[in-house]
Parts: sequence; C-alpha cells; structure tokens
Amino acid sequence: MNIQELIQQRGKENFALHDHYLNSQMVKVLKTIGFDRHYVKAEGAYLFDEQGHRYLDLLSGFGVFAVGRNHPHIVQTLKDVLSAELPNLVQLDVSLLSGLLAEKLVAISPAGLERVFFANSGTETIEAAIKFSRYATGKSKIVYCQGGYHGLSLGSLSATGDPHYKQGFGPLIPDFIEIPFNDLAALEEALSQQDVAAFITEPIQGHGVWLPDDHYLPEAAELVRRYGALLIADEVQTGLGRTGKWWAVEHWSVVPDILCMAKALSGGFVPVGALVCKEWIFDRVFNRMDRAVVHGSTFGKNNLAMAAGFATLEVLESENLIEKSAQSGQAIIDALQFLVGEYECLKEIRGKGMMVALEFTEPKSLSLKISWKMLEAANKGLFSQMITVPLFARHRILSQVAGHGMNIVKFIPPLILTEADIKWMVEAVKNVVADAHRGPAAVWDLGRILAAKALRIKAGT
Ligand SMILES: Cc1ncc(COP(=O)(O)O)c(C=O)c1O
Repeated sequence: MNIQELIQQRGKENFALHDHYLNSQMVKVLKTIGFDRHYVKAEGAYLFDEQGHRYLDLLSGFGVFAVGRNHPHIVQTLKDVLSAELPNLVQLDVSLLSGLLAEKLVAISPAGLERVFFANSGTETIEAAIKFSRYATGKSKIVYCQGGYHGLSLGSLSATGDPHYKQGFGPLIPDFIEIPFNDLAALEEALSQQDVAAFITEPIQGHGVWLPDDHYLPEAAELVRRYGALLIADEVQTGLGRTGKWWAVEHWSVVPDILCMAKALSGGFVPVGALVCKEWIFDRVFNRMDRAVVHGSTFGKNNLAMAAGFATLEVLESENLIEKSAQSGQAIIDALQFLVGEYECLKEIRGKGMMVALEFTEPKSLSLKISWKMLEAANKGLFSQMITVPLFARHRILSQVAGHGMNIVKFIPPLILTEADIKWMVEAVKNVVADAHRGPAAVWDLGRILAAKALRIKAGT
C-alpha cells in the first residue's frame, strides 16, 4: 500500500496502536499531562496538529533537530543518495561517504583528534569509547559523575549517575566509580591508584543543565593525564553547536582524548553516532589485520546516515548556526533574567547557547510555600510541571522537565529560532512563571488539568 494513503487512512490510530502493541505507560503519561495531540506535519522549529495549530518545539526531539525538522537540503541529499543506487554496506569494502564525513568531522574537531569511529546512536558511541579506553590503557576502571547521563545500554548505563535508570537492571559493570560532578578532589582520589582507564563526563550535564566551574574541565584533563587515564567528553547532547561553539569543551579550551557525538549529526533523519579520538588510541585498538573488525556494527557507516551527517554539517556551516546558537541563547537568557528576583520560586536561569534551564526553588511566603509543599509531597519535582504543562496547553510550546525529581525546566530548541520565535517563547515563559506564583489557585488549576485527563484515561478516551 502507498504509505501516504496508509497514513491518511489510519492517522488517528497512533495512541491506540501504542496502547495495544508498544509502551502503554507512555500513552498514559501523554494523556495525563495533556500532550496527546495528533501531529500531522513538521517544519523547522514547528509542529502542526490536525487542526492546523502551530507548536513551537523547544525540545527538538531531545536535541536531534538542531537544524530544524525536515530541512530541505538534507531531504534533497537523502533523496539524491537513494536515487543514485549506491552500493551500501558492502562490508568487505570501505565506503566513500563515510570517508568524506570523517574528513569533515576531523576538520571541525579540536586539534589532535584525528580518527573517527561511526556507530548508530549516542549510547553505542559511549560503548565504543569505554571499550577503546580500556583496550588502549590496559586498565578497566571508569570514573563517571553523579547526575551524568550517557545512555541506557549496559556500559553507558553503568556510567550514568542516576539511580532511577539503574534500579533493577543490575548487576551493572563492576569497576565503575561514581564521583560528584565539578569536584576535582574526588576525581584525584578516584584516579590515585593509577588503575583508571577513563574519566567520562558531559562538559555540561544535560540532566539539570549543570555547568562546571571554569577551572574544572582544564584541571580534570590535567589530572587524568597525570594519572595515566583518558578523558572522554560526552558531547552527544552538547556537541555540534548546541552550546554556541562546535564543541562545549571549547568553552574551556580542553582537548579530550575521545569526543562522542550523535543526536544532531543525524539531521533528524538517520540514527548515527560518532567518536573522534587521538590517533594512538585507534592504532592500539585496531593494531593488527586480524583485529580490523574487533569493534563495529553492521549498520555503522551506512550511506544514508553518512549523507545525513555530511549535509547537516553543511547546513550548520552555511547558515552560521553555531554563532546563531550563541547569540539566540544569550538573547533568551537576557530577556528572562529579570524574572529571577521578581518571582520567588525562580532560583536561577542558566545555560550556554541553546541549552537553557530555569531552576525553581521552595518559596518563602506562606501561601506559596503550602502549594509548593503540596506538590512536592505528591511527586518530587512536580512544581516544574506547572511550567511545562501550561506552556504547552496555553502557549503551544513543547519543553521538558530536566530530569527526575528536579524542579528544573529545560529548553534545547533548534538552533534556527527566529526573533519572533524567541519573543513567543519569552512572553510565554513570563506568563506561566507569573501564573505559577498565584499560589494555591495555580496549583488547583494544574490539579484540575491533570485530574480531568486522569479521569479521561480511566474512562478509556
Ligand atoms: C549526553 C548524552 N549521552 C548519551 C546519550 C544517549 O544517546 P542515545 O539516546 O542516542 O543512545 C544521550 C541521550 O540523551 C545524552 O544526552
């Protein structure tokens, strides 16, 4: 059957199909918080529902759509690759497109990172980084940070510092050591036995949008070097312009030994991941002909992923999106900064480039304190839903809570936002933050939305 006809005919069945065949809890969540729309079209920073309503997507598929959705240059490139009937995944061959993308990635990577390995996702890239650092150093321990997130397969999960994801999936990989983020003394202690293969960290933690002190990453790099370990920078989220530079490590002039990327490299089309690393690491892992395929994946380096990556880098360059990310992110923070101080629940607005967070805290005034405590008692971090739910319901803006049990709202928009989009966002945020300070009335409003949805779920609608 023609796929467009199929979509036309069965377009409204997505929730029912997921409820029946996939993760029904996800359907329940969406219906409970009122995010259960039928989107029919996507373009740039916008989603459109069946009634033609336009939504501003400040979540961008968890950071995948840096260049916006359905970018015409990437669409055209993918069409061209398909029509060219290229030989793909020959396996006993080396493909041109992966070579071209690798050449381009090395050119934009920090100096000294000269070899590229391709995977199919963020987590697979982290798995490769863990294995490469173990083999290259001959050591097994991996040091990682509390609150960090590196993916959900067993290796990357072992390095993820959030018990919510780990609980019940153990035993995880032994020899992984958790330390607090931004704590050099803890890092030195963990490295002190000289038995650590690598220290892995996001330059800016995605869950919570936590920025390190300025001296942290340069000194961490020096400690890691001194104790004979490697530094793995997980730039799966922060890379490719998200923070206003190609790589977040550039904010602190740090060159890691291995740098991981994924998400935005896909152009939003074809899953892909890549790491760039120092040549000696690659030379050790792939050190003999019989080890030429000692690590890899059947679909790694596939033509569509390589072409999507190549075209995405072209768009990031030709549309000056790295610079734009820095400017737009700063414009957003500048426009919202005054809310801190004006509204007592709002503790801080922070970020770099197009990675921005609003952190909320327990208020001092009595009536707000009661509302806050009521929400926290129901569910830790629930106050933040008083921002994300009305942002969506009233202002058609998609955002997210920055992690489990935290009152932090996060925005990782496409880097292409226009001035009008930023105005839309800023006015909406001002409005919902003000509303959330109306005290019990605001809480009851949210409660009403959630309760009504919960009743609809019970009634099976
Ligand atoms: C910093 C970071 N590392 C790794 C991952 C895992 O990537 P994936 O979901 O593609 O496996 C993510 C995903 O959100 C991430 O943000």
